[in-house]
Amino acid sequence: MATLEIPTPMRGKPQPSREQVIGHPRLTVLDHPLVTSLLTTVRDQGTPPAEFERCLHELTRFLLWHALQDAEISSVSVSSPTGVQADGGRLADGLAALAILRAGLGMIAPLRQLVPAAPIYLVGARRDEQTLAATIYYKNLPGPLHRLRHVLLLDPMLATGGSAVVTVQLLRQTYPGPISYLGIIGAPYGVQQLLQADPGVHIYLAALDERLNDQGFIVPGLGDAGDRLFGTT
Ligand code: PRP
Repeated sequence: MATLEIPTPMRGKPQPSREQVIGHPRLTVLDHPLVTSLLTTVRDQGTPPAEFERCLHELTRFLLWHALQDAEISSVSVSSPTGVQADGGRLADGLAALAILRAGLGMIAPLRQLVPAAPIYLVGARRDEQTLAATIYYKNLPGPLHRLRHVLLLDPMLATGGSAVVTVQLLRQTYPGPISYLGIIGAPYGVQQLLQADPGVHIYLAALDERLNDQGFIVPGLGDAGDRLFGTT
């Protein structure tokens, strides 16, 4: 009986270490006890999909906090119940999100809650298990994207970086501005690929793991985020 060979496309490929990418000016890796705790839950293979999704939401909130640190504010004034006007501000228009299917869907809810006015675009990217090459199988990017001022790219896993890179290349056909990639876990290899692919991308991660294994999975990682999220493992 023929045995099924597991493809090992990363075997023998040189990978940068964490130390080689960690100080890059366009890479932010969160460091907070709450993040550590949430990451431990999402890494745990016993965590059920609903709890996995809840933790993904919480981690995405932290990522948004950092990625929008310098977001532009439009001044507004509101009437407080005390009868006194309160000067304030709201996030200015021009911010949008682009979620990569499937797993990026698990990062949309906190964005919707914190920035309700931001449009959300979708792209489907799939990587070939034999070669790890990413292809786009779905895209929904209507509208004048060139008018946007900041795009947040949402995908929990940055492994080889292939899915993020093809998505950025697609986005670049109509959008020249800054892109913030928000991910839960990245590998140094994927970080390096994405940073080299486009000088306008800043990467925000909850964790930077050690490396990719021979199959191209981040280790220790959390498995396949899409499967974990939708219970299709
Ligand atoms: C996973 C993950 C990323 C991609 C990362 O998606 O959610 O999109 O792989 O790998 P890369 O950096 O090597 O491209 P997958 O292709 O498994 O699709 P899914 O989200 O539909 O499960």
